[in-house]
Amino acid sequence: MQTHLRGKDMISTQQWSKSELDTVFEVAKALKRARAVGESHALLRDKTLAMLFFFSSTRTRASFEAGMAQLGGHAAFIESQTTQISHGDTAKEIGEILGRYYDGLAIRQCDWAFGNDYITAVAEASRVPVLNMQCDVYHPFQALADLLTVMERFGDPRGKTINVSWAYASSYQKPLSVPQSLILLMSRYGMNVRLTAPAEFGLMPEIVQQAKENATASGGSFEQLDDFDAGFEGADVVYPKSWGCWMTTEDNEESAKIGAQYSDWIADERRMALAAPHAGYMHCLPADRSIEVTDGLIDGPQSWVYDEAENRLHVQKAVMALTM
Ligand code: CP
Repeated sequence: MQTHLRGKDMISTQQWSKSELDTVFEVAKALKRARAVGESHALLRDKTLAMLFFFSSTRTRASFEAGMAQLGGHAAFIESQTTQISHGDTAKEIGEILGRYYDGLAIRQCDWAFGNDYITAVAEASRVPVLNMQCDVYHPFQALADLLTVMERFGDPRGKTINVSWAYASSYQKPLSVPQSLILLMSRYGMNVRLTAPAEFGLMPEIVQQAKENATASGGSFEQLDDFDAGFEGADVVYPKSWGCWMTTEDNEESAKIGAQYSDWIADERRMALAAPHAGYMHCLPADRSIEVTDGLIDGPQSWVYDEAENRLHVQKAVMALTM
């Protein structure tokens, strides 16, 4: 267990060593147990977290806020449009000033080719840890919650196959951050990572390269497919979700047209039956129901979506308790 994490940012899991990530899971399990048995764990009494949102959220906001309260502290919701941030406060000013008021700064800024740079700039100016609540490149707490969920089901995840797959959705051009954080983290833990997507929906090449290197180092594997059904075959975990074709076009209309060619990429019970009999269906939520996934699958016995949503709370509390 690592005990030197006070002050450390969590912008990507890649910044954390395997041993440090193991510590997060160890603490998350202890905090989950403490909550289950009603044991007080006010580890952050008198501490405050700023939660700065440039984009809407249900789970992230609720779980960080609940988590801070359960740790004995307070979380403040700050929204860019209703503050001076939208009128000119710079990233440096936010880091400097909010870093003097709060004990941690959590930020969601998903704008393409901007969000990660913004969070990094705030972190450079901040004297307190900065936690990435999702940017254009990474969604580290989602991936941590997802891996905790896989570990709860299978124990050691080494050798298990996870299919991180694109699926169709019509709502909007979603960030690459969830699939990118998934392939980065699951490959650190020796999983066989399968990335399935149409050619136009590639991820950032440097992230794919890092995932390949992670897999080599961990004894896992990494493969890429472009056939939706083939991605499900024999997988232990399937994670079909939509993302935008950012590497092909930044134009929303063009992206929607390209995506519509693949409107049959919907996760359903027939495809789930191609996976291993014990396989789980995962999705970070919100899902586009009846478009991205059928109700029968997401509400069915192989769906793990509520456990993974719950685990957001536990991994975030662990990282806050360790870093703040
Ligand atoms: N999965 C996730 O980050 O959910 P929210 O967008 O609702 O926070």
